[in-house]
Amino acid sequence: MTSEFRSVSPEELEGNFIRRIGKEWMLVTAEKPDGTVNTMTAGWGGIGEMWGRPAVFVFIRPQRYTKEFVDAADHFSLTFFGQNQRKALSLLGSRSGRDGDKIQESGLTLVRGKVPYFQEAEIVLGCRKLYCQQLAPECFTDAKCDQDWYPEKDYHYMYVAEIEEALVR
Ligand SMILES: Cc1cc2nc3c(=O)[nH]c(=O)nc-3n(C[C@H](O)[C@H](O)[C@H](O)COP(=O)(O)O)c2cc1C
Repeated sequence: MTSEFRSVSPEELEGNFIRRIGKEWMLVTAEKPDGTVNTMTAGWGGIGEMWGRPAVFVFIRPQRYTKEFVDAADHFSLTFFGQNQRKALSLLGSRSGRDGDKIQESGLTLVRGKVPYFQEAEIVLGCRKLYCQQLAPECFTDAKCDQDWYPEKDYHYMYVAEIEEALVR
């Protein structure tokens, strides 16, 4: 991890993560054992506490190429950016890594380490997977969420992961 970042305790993270995730978005990034990396923009999820640890909650649809990378790795990163990177996040959320090198196209600088992340980020969370389960139609207590968001029945997989490292600028 580079010197522009400083490591903080997850409890010291500042800002409103409802806004950061829902309105400003984040990147979910992971590396396969062969060294290839993919990333995607995510606007749904959460940050809090689970099983006595600081944790993140990420929701990935089955057709995302990024899911293959998150499934193949023990770790992934969540990265949060300033509004100056909104264009990059729009691109990374509208193209698939299956169709070309969208990371290069985005102009972001990949940093490789235990967990891949991006140099331009304002906040980096290095996360270790704890749990993964696909959402199930019979579990909705409000059927409207199912009707509105899953006409293709492509239910998200929920990942719960421990925040092992938090870096801020
Ligand atoms: C603002 C925004 C938020 C998104 N949030 C999510 C999300 O939370 N979960 C998800 O599965 N896809 C989400 N997507 C869609 C993926 O980012 C998009 O399908 C991306 O192209 C997948 O890339 P990949 O195939 O390389 O993984 C979002 C897209 C945008 C633009």
